[in-house]
Amino acid sequence: MLGAHNQIACNNIQTLFLQRKISIRPFTSKTRICTAASVISGSSVTHKTWSPLSMEKPLSKALLETDAWKVIPGKFGRFGGKYVPETLITSLKQLENEFNFVLQDTAFQGELSTALREYVGRETPLYFAERLTNHYKDENGEGPEIYLKREDLNHMGAHKINNAIAQVMIAKRMGRKSVVAATGAGQHGVATAAACAKLGLECTVYMGTDDTEKQSSKSNVLLMNLLGAQVKGVNGSFKDASSEAIRGWVGDLERSYYLCGTVVGPHPCPSMVREFQSVIGKETRRQAMEKWGGKPEVLIACVGSGSNALGLFNEFIKDEEVRLIGVEAAGFGLDSGRHSATLSRGEVGVYHGAMTYLLQDEEGQILGPHSIGVGKIFAYFVLKQKHIKSCTYRLEYPGVGPEISFLKDSGRAEFYTATDHEAVDAYKRLCRLEGIFPALEASHALAFLDKLCPTLPNGAKVVVNCSGHGYKDAATVFNYQQQPQ
Ligand SMILES: Cc1ncc(COP(=O)(O)O)c(C=O)c1O
Repeated sequence: MLGAHNQIACNNIQTLFLQRKISIRPFTSKTRICTAASVISGSSVTHKTWSPLSMEKPLSKALLETDAWKVIPGKFGRFGGKYVPETLITSLKQLENEFNFVLQDTAFQGELSTALREYVGRETPLYFAERLTNHYKDENGEGPEIYLKREDLNHMGAHKINNAIAQVMIAKRMGRKSVVAATGAGQHGVATAAACAKLGLECTVYMGTDDTEKQSSKSNVLLMNLLGAQVKGVNGSFKDASSEAIRGWVGDLERSYYLCGTVVGPHPCPSMVREFQSVIGKETRRQAMEKWGGKPEVLIACVGSGSNALGLFNEFIKDEEVRLIGVEAAGFGLDSGRHSATLSRGEVGVYHGAMTYLLQDEEGQILGPHSIGVGKIFAYFVLKQKHIKSCTYRLEYPGVGPEISFLKDSGRAEFYTATDHEAVDAYKRLCRLEGIFPALEASHALAFLDKLCPTLPNGAKVVVNCSGHGYKDAATVFNYQQQPQ
């Protein structure tokens, strides 16, 4: 799939990397380490020679308040970092410099504001979901008030464009001619392709064949093509597509820009994506002040890798009284072995250049969608003697962003799970009560309201991030209902 020239370049780089190990400090024995080669190939290995080191204590909220966890750029307590081959350090440093520059550059910030307003369509409404609120009232007519942050109303139908447009602007500033990205269901791919079309850059999107074959993704493949992007199928799932995209970038560092769609990868990728998504929380704070003169009591977002969650949470991290709740996909259930609940069932390791929680096996090998049953909406699995389809599809990266891992360990955010069944119920509920199709990803966050609402005081203000629209998921929901339960 790579051009011959790129393939040779990649092979050379890989051979080079295979001959050396990254020099990093020791980790706990359970911690997985990526060799330089595995950073590129996307596989990872348990490095048996590293001596164990005791786990750092979770950082306190007091520490959070001082910003001390961000003193070393790209490190979030013991998470994050830049575990990449030396040959990539220069490119990442260039990117970091550019990112730091544009953060302060009024011209760039002005252009970005204009693009967010006039192209993306921001700000998105903070919508009072009155009938959903009524649904959760108890017999005394009491319950929390539920608001939806309508990221589904963004151009291209999801939060992904907030980050894509800003990074394509950076790519252009850096003189890059082409943008490389990886996508799961296609939302990030479509957003990147659109931003590249607007700014006149070439765009290549890598997508796992597990995803390209899904009915819900097919329209996104068509859209990307129409937007002028080249879509390259990669055997496997999103994680394989990500590895291939990184290879594509590494083979053409001077000309191409790797556009990370979520808060993962080596520094500065997680910080950049968080920064560009944090417009979600900033608007929420202002809108909450206008609507009820205060802050929300609870913020809820689904967690695939964490970009829409951090986008909403970041603004409120120091407001200790605001509860931050992330909801992961439990698929068929946490004990089924077919889920993508990294924070509930994962362990710490290094993958795609950063230390974070990961789904891995005893030997530190990444558990891919085939192992945990994600990315297989239309494929039947034999489970408990029955054929059951999974709809835990797009919250499917085997890791989470390092800052999300930090929020878990520090106790600042709470993380729970929702099953396929609960997510589909929540999807249908929002359709019927509010006339809104939420993305199935966001439906995991909505599903958690069932458990949360009965525990909240009357009138508590809850904001759920409706991270994307769910037109693409209608067939999935329909088919899910047809299958034997
Ligand atoms: C609409 C929507 N919500 C949520 C996600 C999960 O990603 P993240 O956790 O980075 O927000 C995706 C991933 O593509 C998505 O398309």
